[in-house]
Amino acid sequence: MNYYKISLSLFRFFLLSVLSIQLSFSQKTAVSLKSAYQDDFLIGTALGTEHILEKNEKADALIKREFNAITPENIMKAQIIHPAPNRYNFTLADKYVEYGQKNQMYIVGHTLIWHSQLPPFAFKMNNADSVRIFMTDHINTVAGRYAGKINSWDVVNEALNEDGTLRKSVFLKTLGEGYIKEAFDLAAKADPKAALYYNDYNIEQPAKRKGAIDLIKKLQASGTKIDGVGIQGHWSIHTLNLKDIEESIMEFSRLGLKIAFTELDLTVLPNPWDLQGADVNQRFEEKPEMNPYKDALPDSVQTALADRYTDLFKLFLKHKDKISRVTFWGVDDKHSWLNGFPIRNRTNYPLLFDRALEPKKAYQAVMSLKSAE
Ligand code: XIL
Repeated sequence: MNYYKISLSLFRFFLLSVLSIQLSFSQKTAVSLKSAYQDDFLIGTALGTEHILEKNEKADALIKREFNAITPENIMKAQIIHPAPNRYNFTLADKYVEYGQKNQMYIVGHTLIWHSQLPPFAFKMNNADSVRIFMTDHINTVAGRYAGKINSWDVVNEALNEDGTLRKSVFLKTLGEGYIKEAFDLAAKADPKAALYYNDYNIEQPAKRKGAIDLIKKLQASGTKIDGVGIQGHWSIHTLNLKDIEESIMEFSRLGLKIAFTELDLTVLPNPWDLQGADVNQRFEEKPEMNPYKDALPDSVQTALADRYTDLFKLFLKHKDKISRVTFWGVDDKHSWLNGFPIRNRTNYPLLFDRALEPKKAYQAVMSLKSAE
């Protein structure tokens, strides 16, 4: 009898130990991106209309499980939110903000002043008065509506050329370089709580980076509020330059700014401008060699993508004290804008989730950096 009791309690003890080992094992491994990186920086994604409207159950569950920051891919751009001089369309933007609030996410506003995706009337503006009216009304109305709800605004997007000079946008042409300060000051007034960012691509590259630093220093010297710089991070597995990225993190943070990687994706496809003398025209676009992985991604490229993401996230972790957020430009490979840019109708694989919304090798690579810590 005694013997029976002892063996029963031994068996119970054994069972409980196995269960608790399993539990702690699953707690360590079965985590999401956002929980794996919770002590480091926010992990975000760009949402399309279908995501904001929660059209696809699997995508919706994935977004809520993996990400704690969101950026609207298109619906807050002037073209959509401000289609005519005195007309605003807030339907989707309101839903976007509600989605973020409901899920306790960090909500990014993208973007207030940008030369691209403007409404037709704004492209026609050709004097300082009309542009100033547009800018003032736009920022006051949009940033004002969501004041206290948006955590950070990309106030000015892509104001620089590759050589670091200012892009000749409709804003620069009519208002001069002071438009950048005006935009930041208006945003600070309309939404005093939001973190204000300057956002651009290729600003990790030396010449353009210098232009960004000059621009930021001028803003700071004039007493304008700027909290961070967004490095978009539209990069390629073939040309990723970690040295440039690391130098940028150091230099921008020396200005007292937070750094966010705001639109991260890594193309695996050839870029037309990588090929010397190539003419980017329709005939060129149709060449099948520009779309080499139409049916599937070879293992070697899948691994190369995972390796580049490993390199990047190692660097991000090394500088986590300077980085506020890393946001992927899209949820999964099917959603990515890189299937249509810079050449239409290609099959690209730049993100961590595949077309079936399953995690890729690159996802495991990014996750394993944290379990190895
Ligand atoms: C892109 C979107 O992903 C596309 O859907 C749209 O057609 C064009 O714009 N820099 C930015 C983003 O700041 O807003 C752009 O998003 C990509 C480049």
